Amino acid sequence: MKKPKVFITRKWPATVEAKLIERYDVTLNLDDRPLSTAEFQSALQNYDAVCPTVCDTFSADVLNIANKRCKILANFGVGFNHIDVKAAQAQHLIITNTPGVLTHSTADIAMTLLLMSARRGAEGDRLVRSKQWQGWCPTHMLSSNVTGATLGLIGFGRIAQAMARKAHHGFDMNIIYFNPSQTNEYVVDDLQATRCDSIEALLTQADFVSLHCPGNAETKHLINADALQHMQPTAHLINTARGDVVDTQALIHALTTKQIAGAGLDVYEGEPNIPDALLTLDNISLLPHLGSATLATRTAMGEKVLDNLAAFFAGTPLPDQVI
Ligand code: DGY
Repeated sequence: MKKPKVFITRKWPATVEAKLIERYDVTLNLDDRPLSTAEFQSALQNYDAVCPTVCDTFSADVLNIANKRCKILANFGVGFNHIDVKAAQAQHLIITNTPGVLTHSTADIAMTLLLMSARRGAEGDRLVRSKQWQGWCPTHMLSSNVTGATLGLIGFGRIAQAMARKAHHGFDMNIIYFNPSQTNEYVVDDLQATRCDSIEALLTQADFVSLHCPGNAETKHLINADALQHMQPTAHLINTARGDVVDTQALIHALTTKQIAGAGLDVYEGEPNIPDALLTLDNISLLPHLGSATLATRTAMGEKVLDNLAAFFAGTPLPDQVI
């Protein structure tokens, strides 16, 4: 029997690629070259399954192509805001994602950014490397305590709760949360977390605000100039969710005018293009979308895609169907 044809848009961990080669007539992207719209469209026309990832734009223009052979977009990643869901639905395409397996690695990066921002880690690293450090003194590079501070989580799904546990049990932090969608609320007793009725209530109380909502039309610029005004001047903003959730220009203004103390970002509007105004600020820590970037996590994400493909080709229920 002929093997199904599967198209992988970017390089995946080697063990997962080996399994793909075994099971499918697969086209890999061994050079990890970003592909063009025309290449995505050709894949949709010539393969049974296409497996895009977070950095591939599958807009309506890409998806509205004639003579499609593809029936499933088995996404490598939990976020799927790079796929135009309405257009995919109209084209009768199934979308699957990879939830659950990147919870802890992403929560770890959120904690890393929180600690870096609070304790001026990136700034200190730059000072040492530039050979400008003059030595220890009692008032040099003073920063904010993390232990015992209040962490405000916007969104309260798996990753937010994993971060809350690390923060509460590891750093004795007080946890408050606001869930814009009111869904995915797996409230747990061990956190003694307090639910805020409004985003403003959370922003005014939190020493650290960490974003964990999906990127979509409703959450675009949820953190805008108005929201930033509600934060305390000593507070820090952490974003490991999606870049679009924060209005970058408003954040630059808030950091430049010291309206808030600092920020830690792993995701950006229009990434990987970062405005110079962000790059030159000292009170911000910047990471290149590393949330899920451990070998174990990326392998587990690939395994999730394999499970979804296997179910799809076997005609059994899909473990992680989004639409
Ligand atoms: C995802 O899976 O959506 C993450 O952003 C990748 O780290």
